[in-house]
Amino acid sequence: MVQRFISGRLLGALLGLFLLMPVLMAPTPPSMCTPLRTLDDNLSHRRRYMKHNFPVNYTIRVHREEVFKLSNISRMRLNVDNLEEFHFQRMWFLVNHGVLKRIIRVMPERHPSRPYTTELEKRLQDAEGVFVQSHPPEVFQQELPDAVQDIWDGLTEESDRVPESSWRFASPKSLLDNFCHTMYCLFSECFATTETLDYLDTSHCQKGRKKALRANS
Ligand SMILES: *[C@@H]1O[C@H](CO)[C@@H](O)[C@H](O)[C@H]1NC(C)=O
Ligand SMILES: *[C@@H]1O[C@H](CO)[C@@H](O)[C@H](O)[C@H]1NC(C)=O
Ligand SMILES: *[C@@H]1O[C@H](CO)[C@@H](O)[C@H](O)[C@H]1NC(C)=O
Repeated sequence: MVQRFISGRLLGALLGLFLLMPVLMAPTPPSMCTPLRTLDDNLSHRRRYMKHNFPVNYTIRVHREEVFKLSNISRMRLNVDNLEEFHFQRMWFLVNHGVLKRIIRVMPERHPSRPYTTELEKRLQDAEGVFVQSHPPEVFQQELPDAVQDIWDGLTEESDRVPESSWRFASPKSLLDNFCHTMYCLFSECFATTETLDYLDTSHCQKGRKKALRANS
């Protein structure tokens, strides 16, 4: 009886651990690497499709929060407590879905970059599908830390309610540069080649991360 009680509790504890594990222990589920590497392959053509096919210095209007760079990540890691990779990763999906939608919106039906951009959108969706599947559904219902919630609200605000001061102009190429660089940073386990590690080492991503790890230990 006692034994049964104990093993029941143990089982419960183990189960709880197991449910938390994907978030606490594996910042990037390994299954994410295949769709993310495909996305990376496709993003490697961004200069051609996002620069050469557009007028010189062409910019589009985006939400302030859609400018999501490595410096944002490092700043938040330093200044905001209780942020997990998982929160950044969710934000990354939301931001970049929005960015791709905005780029697609300015292109006429037969623009030469349109199929490319819709393919990116599809690939991002695929990656997000795997992301959602590889976490227990509860974690998506948990409250977001305030700092993340504020950004979330900004990103999902109806365009006509966004104040004039909250818009930014950015070139499609620079937006996709951010898309790509933050992907290397937030899903670094999938991009652990010497080349990207060198890149991350000298970037804000790794610096902030080391500091955050020290602060947590
Ligand atoms: C995207 O990547 C996949 C896999 O590497 C490739 O088959 C496809 O042609 C790429 N598409 C573009 C537009 O780069
Ligand atoms: C594009 O921007 C650069 C740098 O701001 C500027 O020097 C150049 O004249 C601009 N080109 C055009 C065509 O507006
Ligand atoms: C990133 O930082 C800029 C300021 O440099 C800010 O305007 C923007 O909202 C930030 N983006 C996010 C997603 O926090």
